[in-house]
Parts: sequence; C-alpha cells; structure tokens
Amino acid sequence: MPELDVVGWRSAIQAAIDRPDSTPILNLKDDGGGIYDAIFVGGGAAGRFGGSYLRAMGGRALIIDRWPFLGGSCPHQACVPHHLFSEAAAELDRARWFSDELFFGPFDESRASILELVGLFRAGRASAHAFMNWQTQVQLDVEFVLNAEADIVDANTVEAAGRTFEARNLVVALGAFQRPLLIPGAGLGGVHDWATLVEDLDYEPTRCVAIGGGKTAVEYGSFFQATGCETTIVSRSPVMRTRSLHHVDEDIRRYVVDGMRARGMTLLEGASVTEIHGAGRVEGVTVHHADGSLETVACDMVLNCTGELPNSAEAARALALATGPDGEILVDDRMRTSVEGVYAAGDVIGAPMEMFKARKCGMTAARNIMGEDHTFDFSQYPDFLHSTYEVTWVGLSEEEARERYDDIAVIRMPPRGLEGDIPLPCAEGTMLYAFAKPELSGLQKCVIDGATRRVLGFHHVGYGAKDAFQYLDHLLRRPDGLTVDELGEMNELFLNPEHFIQLSRLRAGRRELVDL
Ligand SMILES: Cc1cc2nc3c(=O)[nH]c(=O)nc-3n(C[C@H](O)[C@H](O)[C@H](O)COP(=O)(O)OP(=O)(O)OC[C@H]3O[C@@H](n4cnc5c(N)ncnc54)[C@H](O)[C@@H]3O)c2cc1C
Ligand SMILES: NC(=O)c1ccc[n+]([C@@H]2O[C@H](COP(=O)([O-])OP(=O)(O)OC[C@H]3O[C@@H](n4cnc5c(N)ncnc54)[C@H](OP(=O)(O)O)[C@@H]3O)[C@@H](O)[C@H]2O)c1
Repeated sequence: MPELDVVGWRSAIQAAIDRPDSTPILNLKDDGGGIYDAIFVGGGAAGRFGGSYLRAMGGRALIIDRWPFLGGSCPHQACVPHHLFSEAAAELDRARWFSDELFFGPFDESRASILELVGLFRAGRASAHAFMNWQTQVQLDVEFVLNAEADIVDANTVEAAGRTFEARNLVVALGAFQRPLLIPGAGLGGVHDWATLVEDLDYEPTRCVAIGGGKTAVEYGSFFQATGCETTIVSRSPVMRTRSLHHVDEDIRRYVVDGMRARGMTLLEGASVTEIHGAGRVEGVTVHHADGSLETVACDMVLNCTGELPNSAEAARALALATGPDGEILVDDRMRTSVEGVYAAGDVIGAPMEMFKARKCGMTAARNIMGEDHTFDFSQYPDFLHSTYEVTWVGLSEEEARERYDDIAVIRMPPRGLEGDIPLPCAEGTMLYAFAKPELSGLQKCVIDGATRRVLGFHHVGYGAKDAFQYLDHLLRRPDGLTVDELGEMNELFLNPEHFIQLSRLRAGRRELVDL
C-alpha cells in the first residue's frame, strides 16, 4: 500500500466503515513473506503499542485488526467518546448552576442533546484513526493488515485477508466486549451499551436507567443527567464501591454520590434490574430492591454498564490457552501465556481494563520477545473517573490506611466540619464555584503515615488535578516513597488545583504530624 497522508487515511477509513464489503488494507514489506518476530493479533492500545515498541527495538512486527484503523476501541467507542461526553457534562453542569447569573445566559435544556453529541463524536472520530494509521505506517514503520478478521491457526501462524503470515511469536491483543444482560427484554430497542450508543443511537433519550455502579455508570449517567435526560442508576453494590474499583476513599465517594443526587439523579443501591419492558422499544424496567420489594421505573433507554468480558474465546480455543473464570487469558508478569511463544496483552487478560495497562502489557510482551527480561506489575496504579467532576486517586484510602497503620495524619481541604462554608479548594475549574457556590468546589485529601512521614494516598474531586496524579503515582511507588517534607519542598505553580504542596509545607515543620 502506498504511504497516505492523514487526509488520505481519513477518507480510506471512512469509506471502509461505510461499506461493509470493503477490501482489506495491507501495509506490508516483502508482500508479508518471511518470518515476523511477532504478530500482534488485534491493533488496539495493546497491539499498536506492542507492535511499535518491538519495531523500535529493531524487530519485525505485523499487526492485524478487523477494523480499518489502528488504535482499537478507545478512540472508536470507549475512552474518547467518554471524555467528550464528560467534558460536555461538566460544561452543562456549570451552565445549569450559573443559569442567568454573572455572564451566563438562562440555561436552555432543549439545546442539550445526547444525540447531537453522539453525532459530533461519530463525525469526528475518523481523524484520530487517520492519525494513528499514518503515524504507524510513516513514523513508526510497522507493517499491518487492517479491515480483516484474524484467524489464528497455531502458535506461529495467522491467516487474514486471504493470506497466511508466519511469526516466531504471537501476541493476542483482542480486547474485550460488553457483558450481555441476561434478563427478559434485553433485546428491546433502546437497550444500549457504550459501544452501541455511539454506533446506533437514533433518537433523543429522555429517561435512562443505567445498570451497574462502576465508572461507565457514573460517567455516562452523569452525562445523560446533565443533558436533561432523567437518569436512574441501579447498582447491586454501592455506587463506586464495586469490586472493580479499589482504593476509593469513602469521603470522596460520598461527595461524588451526594453530588449526583443533588443534580437530580436517582441512585438505587443494593438493587437489580430483573426485567426490561416494552413493545419493540424499552418503556420501563422492574427493579428488585434489597428488601425484596419491586418497583417499576419508566424509561426510554437502558444503558448496560455491567462491565466487560475478555474477547478470548477464539484464541483460547485455537491455541488451547489457559483462561480464568471470566475467560481472561492467564499470563505471567512477562505477559507469557500457558503456551510457549504466545503472549497476551490488554483487556483480553482481564482487569484492570485501562489504557496504561493495555499499552504497557503490549510493550512488555515486545521487550521479552526481543530478548529483554522485563516484568510489569499493574497491581497498583493511579485511577480516575468522571462524574460532572474529575475524580482522581492514588495509593491508600483513609480507611485502608487506618486499618494498616497506627498513626495516620490527614490533610483535607476543606477541613472536616467546614464543608460548604469556605471557598476552598479553588484553582482551575473551581474559581467561580469557590466564590459563588463554595459547596460545589470539590474535596481533596492527602493521607500520611505519621511514623515514617510517607504519603500513603492522594484523593481529589475537582478539575485539573488529574495530570499531577500520574507523577504522584510514580513518586509514591519509589522504594523510599514520598514524604510530607519532600512534598513541602516542591515548587507549586500557585493556584494549583491540588493544594497538596502548600498544605504539606504548613505541616512539615511539626515533628509530630497532626491533621490539617
Ligand atoms: C466506556 C469506556 C470508557 C473508557 N475510558 C477509559 C479512559 O478514559 N481511560 C482509560 O485508560 N481506559 C478507558 N477505558 C478502557 C480502555 O478503553 C481499554 O482498556 C483499552 O482500549 C483496551 O485496549 P486493548 O488493546 O486491550 O483492546 P482494544 O482497543 O479493544 O483492541 C482490541 C482490537 O482487537 C480487534 N479484534 C477483535 N477481534 C478481532 C479479530 N478476530 N481479528 C482481528 N482483529 C480483532 C478489535 O478490532 C480491536 O481493535 C474505557 C473503556 C470503556 C468501555
Ligand atoms: N478510566 C475510565 O474512565 C474508564 C471508564 C469506563 C470504563 N473503564 C474500564 O472499563 C471496564 C468496564 O467498566 P464498567 O464501569 O463498565 O464496569 P465495571 O467496573 O466492571 O463495573 C461493573 C458494574 O456492574 C455490576 N455488575 C456486574 N455484573 C452484573 C450483573 N450481571 N447484573 C448487575 N450488575 C452487574 C458490578 O457490580 P459488582 O461490583 O457488585 O460486581 C459493577 O457495579 C473497567 O475495567 C473500567 O476500569 C475505564
């Protein structure tokens, strides 16, 4: 295939998406002959980063994907629309709170449309795809076959686009798919998940029931509610207290969950949806509460937010790979599966299903294939979600810290007992709230072990602090960790959204740490 520029890739990708019978896209050297160091089966975050890393190390990589673009589900259906919707949710939220105040006009709910934002995303998403195809072809020099199903024959052979490709190693990077709802009515029109929402939505929802209590339910539920679509979350666990989310601080969770309720959302916790009703289209759901009572909730959309299952079945069958209870391919810390020469990376190996993990799994596989002895431990990591806020955390929650250590000091903004009374925290994104509606300006917390003075956890609800957490995570995980004294020595760019540096400086002079 000749090298295309980004505009060329955009049209080629759009044409392929629009025409189901479009032909495969081949970017091959030596017509795909010879032996590759590795074939990456799946070209999402794990496959593209793995393939590119292997190529950067001097190896020969081939990436195969059934979509006509590289990058996978993140830019096509998952993270990127989620961020677009969450940004819209934050803007809408602000416009509502300040309706007809200051320089804000009266809030006009009729102009806030889920359908329009879905359309905006659909119309623009090929740009990211085009860039990734161009970058992978031109800058990263990686071979690929796109718009073609991969058929794994054995540990060294994959068929795609009517050809057979041979490799010393395979990396299975096939992602995950939405866990199906196994209840009556799940097949009705208007029952969506994060993928079908962006692919198929063709009406304006006005009342939604989101099933699940993790990131997708909180993020999409908050977005829907912000547009004016009345949203009910039905979660069998307390919202944000799901098996999939760890280290969530209870004060932070309360602030987020109370904030969702204050914005008009209904949160039914300890509850399950047992049936979806409707004639052709969804009209309501039956909710089974923890006390055994039943309730009917009317709605014209149900969003399935019950998590994802690894897309491992075909690969596991073809290669006889060992898998876990949810079908996740079992790997060691070098991403090696139970079969010699076969690696697996990304969502297909199970939780956490996050971009950093997918990309670094791919790179870990590449490094080991190229002879480096490299391990990747993703048991601890910085985490985030959106409500109408950015919610970020790393390390231990206050409750976890108190269980494990005797002498805990907490720096909290606002301090306990002053919630809503003082215009703090304030910085990017919360200045207007701090001055006009202080109770909306967020919450932050730093948890410290008094004995060693090491920070054990950071927690933040607000805006603009997420970037800092990537670096804080790195500092916390150093062998010596990060002390309150080191934090107090850093140079803040005042006003900084997390006030951790200056607040630590106020406490660092004390030999015996106490709360602030
Ligand atoms: C709603 C939502 C929002 C999210 N937001 C974030 C976020 O903000 N930040 C974050 O870090 N993570 C987020 N995630 C998680 C993130 O999207 C995933 O962890 C990441 O995309 C996984 O990458 P992957 O390479 O493992 O899988 P994928 O990107 O899904 O790649 C798998 C690839 O395999 C291909 N494939 C499948 N079957 C075949 C076949 N038979 N032949 C050829 N190719 C095949 C697919 O086409 C796909 O391109 C979100 C997830 C969801 C659901
Ligand atoms: N970084 C981001 O912003 C972001 C955004 C979205 C998604 N993601 C990632 O994508 C993956 C999917 O996220 P998610 O929020 O959709 O799922 P999730 O985190 O796995 O949470 C699934 C939710 O559904 C519930 N659930 C599971 N099976 C159910 C069933 N059969 N009936 C009713 N409820 C059920 C779970 O309850 P229990 O807890 O009781 O099991 C939980 O509340 C996760 O790995 C997540 O980290 C990341």
